[in-house]
Amino acid sequence: MPIYLDNAATSHPKPESVYQAVDHSLREIGVSPGRGGYRRGLEATRIIFDAREKLAELFGIHDSARLVFTGSATEALNLAISGMLRPGDHAVTTTMEHNSVSRPLRLAETRGTIITRIPCDRSGVINPRDLAAALRPDTRLIVLSHCSNVTGTIQPIAEIGRLANRAGVAMLVDAAQSAGILPIDVEAMGINLLAAPGHKGLLGPQGTGFLYIGEGLELPPLLVGGTGGHSSDEEQPEEMPARFESGTLNTPGIAGLRAGVEFILTTGCETIRKKELSLVRQMLEGLAELKGISLYGPAPENERGGIVSFTVDGRDPAMIGFTLDQQYDIEVRTGLHCAPWAHRTIGTYPAGTIRVSPGWFTTETEIETFLRAMRQIITT
Ligand SMILES: Cc1ncc(COP(=O)(O)O)c(C=O)c1O
Repeated sequence: MPIYLDNAATSHPKPESVYQAVDHSLREIGVSPGRGGYRRGLEATRIIFDAREKLAELFGIHDSARLVFTGSATEALNLAISGMLRPGDHAVTTTMEHNSVSRPLRLAETRGTIITRIPCDRSGVINPRDLAAALRPDTRLIVLSHCSNVTGTIQPIAEIGRLANRAGVAMLVDAAQSAGILPIDVEAMGINLLAAPGHKGLLGPQGTGFLYIGEGLELPPLLVGGTGGHSSDEEQPEEMPARFESGTLNTPGIAGLRAGVEFILTTGCETIRKKELSLVRQMLEGLAELKGISLYGPAPENERGGIVSFTVDGRDPAMIGFTLDQQYDIEVRTGLHCAPWAHRTIGTYPAGTIRVSPGWFTTETEIETFLRAMRQIITT
């Protein structure tokens, strides 16, 4: 097997229980949730209910019905951004966002929403004072990622949440790189909308994600259609979560996601974080010893997520990634990582960086092998 260091794209491998849950759901249950009243139908419904409850537990969400399943973080972000912003509204974001945030915002901009993009510093951090200064009476939404997928920079979400709540502005957090990796409590951090994928830090299968919609927020669904109940109504039901879950849900995926979240709850977010940080430190220290390497993001001694981005003087990141794959069987991501704004911010546009992201199953030996390969590539 290759050494996989691209867990920021999707986590792999998954805990054994995730594979078993997907297989069991597909093979033994197989029927639609929220539809048939027969026993297997109820069992499928229970899987979905239980997955929702477990996610709510992990993120401090009191009413699990306000957590709606989506096919990805991207879908969740589109649902939140297109639902919240109307022509004439004002929204604030940062220059570190993934295209899954910046493109829906750009679309809203072409439809008449006014967007302010707050520049982050070279390590990717936003100054909450700059954000506070950008708020206006018509500001409806603050949108930002918790942890950058380019640099691993962690934004001061709780502080921004406090100032957003004081100003009466909703805050949407893109937790694609933090869910399952950093502690998140929507109440304590003042998060009104939380979007996350199921297939990264939450260790579930691809094709899963969710949006948490805080109390008091009203937004239209992206899709309307069959929800399994209220079948005589012409209109989409108001009831949560059915309002946002038209069409048959991805039950095998959500069953796997439930098992992934169970694994996190049992192992403990802190234990997972500790291990990942130790691998990241090993990588940062090893890379810093090599000649011609530039590291990006927070200073090595500061807090960061499970991501390290770097470049090598005079070398194309894409070629390094190609060599790692072809000659050393090591998989990393190179280029812009769907976040061109972030690269402009840190000074690596347009070639981008080499991004290395270990996961729960990565070993110290694999990091050592990666560092040895980098040493050889640089010296040849
Ligand atoms: C910061 C960030 N936001 C959003 C996304 C989109 O996630 P998904 O591919 O699950 O839609 C990603 C995925 O890489 C990401 O890193």
